[in-house]
Amino acid sequence: MCGIIGYVGSGDAVPLVLEGLKRLEYRGYDSAGFALVEDGQLVVEKSAGRLSEFMASLGDSLPSGRAAIAHTRWATHGAPTDNNAHPHTDCTGRIAVIHNGIIENVAVLRATLAKHGHSFRSDTDTEVLAHLIEHLYEDSLQGAVAAALKQVEGAYGLAVICTYEPHTIVAAKQGSPLLLGVGDGENFVASDAAAVLQHTRSVVYLDDGEMAVLTKDGYQIPDLDTTRVAKAVSPVDWDLATIERGGYPHFMLKEIMEQPVSICNTLRGHLLPEDGNARLSGINLSDAELLEFDRVVLIACGTSWHAALIGEYMLEELARVPVEVEYASEFRYRNPIIDDRTLVVGISQSGETADTLAAVREAKKKGAWTLGIVNVVGSSIAREVDGGTYIHAGPEIGVASTKAFTCQVTALALLTLRLGRQRALSVLQGREIVEALNALPEQVKAVLAKANEIERIAEQYVRAPNALYLGRGYNFPVALEGALKLKEISYIHAEGYPAAEMKHGPIALIDGMMPVVFVAPQDGVYPKIVSNLEEVKARGGRVFAVVTDGDDQIARLADHVFTIPKTLDSLTPLLSVLPLQLFAYYIAVRRGCNVDQPRNLAKAVTVE
Ligand code: F6R
Repeated sequence: MCGIIGYVGSGDAVPLVLEGLKRLEYRGYDSAGFALVEDGQLVVEKSAGRLSEFMASLGDSLPSGRAAIAHTRWATHGAPTDNNAHPHTDCTGRIAVIHNGIIENVAVLRATLAKHGHSFRSDTDTEVLAHLIEHLYEDSLQGAVAAALKQVEGAYGLAVICTYEPHTIVAAKQGSPLLLGVGDGENFVASDAAAVLQHTRSVVYLDDGEMAVLTKDGYQIPDLDTTRVAKAVSPVDWDLATIERGGYPHFMLKEIMEQPVSICNTLRGHLLPEDGNARLSGINLSDAELLEFDRVVLIACGTSWHAALIGEYMLEELARVPVEVEYASEFRYRNPIIDDRTLVVGISQSGETADTLAAVREAKKKGAWTLGIVNVVGSSIAREVDGGTYIHAGPEIGVASTKAFTCQVTALALLTLRLGRQRALSVLQGREIVEALNALPEQVKAVLAKANEIERIAEQYVRAPNALYLGRGYNFPVALEGALKLKEISYIHAEGYPAAEMKHGPIALIDGMMPVVFVAPQDGVYPKIVSNLEEVKARGGRVFAVVTDGDDQIARLADHVFTIPKTLDSLTPLLSVLPLQLFAYYIAVRRGCNVDQPRNLAKAVTVE
């Protein structure tokens, strides 16, 4: 996720904000930059790439000023280039903006501003904000920012400086974290306490809808209507390492807990509730062109491949389009049958997985239209495909993929809506899915709020040498994903199976030493999976089951149960996978494993 740091005081601002950026590096970024007013002129320096290289390129003679804003960018609109790096400026080069978040109505704002003669130099939504503030500036930066934000839909944490008021920073928050660091004769604004901790431990956390006007001598917190808000100053008593992980002991747990927000970010701006449809303009295909495809091939590796399997179930059931799911590594070497009526979708968190990239290239060579469902903006796969959608999960630092998985499944639900509404899905079915997707972030939050229940259950399974994960229908891929999570971070051997397949072999393994994890929410195959569970219990197996709220049938059979809320069958994986992520996490922690960097694994597998 992007990072923000701003400083106003009597110190030399640029070294201070660059040091703040270093503290924000752990969040992941692809470019960096800063802006300040020096001798009445706005100075902006920015570049794509590592912060260390950017700082080296600046040399020893840094511009000097008493107020500066700086940013590390994680691309959301536009590739990670020098041009798209923040800060962004207006036409006159007098206003500079840094911004975290996504502006949803950017297209409308850009078109309106263009009509008023504004021209744009980058692909970013942030630059549009700079022009909008310029357009509305009368006699105060605070007033212009407030007026601009009243026209903006979406999420932002932002900071603005301008030459008209060189000793002031104006900041604002809506849906993206922002805080003030309160010092003695100096004040800071930051997206994260890590950036200010060296200078102050007194912070003010901004709430949505609030702005901040900072000078060296103080700060005010108005809302967008300039009504002042009284805010408490809070002490920060965490150390730096804890702050970097947002107070969590590991990035993996932080990323699991971020899922209510990351799923919201995947959905943002895509749902069309009235039509029961999804807007996916990035796929670069008209309705007529989309109808030309007679099948879909989903290619991916690892966790992304499990998301693809769920996509297959969704697309076939709801959009009635034939789907195949391929391991990218197999696809690229086995001369698959692909033509220009095949829609090939590469799914990848990193966008750099060598096998998936090669498979996408192979599909293109054979004439397919290729799409990407990718997290990292501007990554190799994102650049290679003909279109697609970003999942906007934010940087995933823990090696085991968690939030990217749920965002990939969410993006596949959007694709299902888009293809389905042209084919088999009625407007009423579409609306039902849109409604269920909108309800998901709160449901995810409710499940994650019960993490301590999973921690207690996990205690019972810490010493297991093996585990079997069983699910059916939409939850068969969840069983695979649960098993993968457990084996990669706890080093316990685990296998996922379709529950009914158990009796074709794995049932021989069942005894009191073999925990069996059932993913058994009340969906269309529920009665079937209850029978499978009884078969395991009849052989003395130990069962942990993930079931729907209010299920007492399985509660009577299983040794441990964890309940999740009811949703549509097709969306249950987005809830049922959560306890399995936490189960793997707590077991691995109790076994003393390096959860964020398990042995032998890399975050992006860029070799075959
Ligand atoms: C498992 C995991 C891996 C990745 C796989 C593909 O937790 O993270 O299995 O899912 O290496 O990576 P991406 O999605 O980056 O292509």
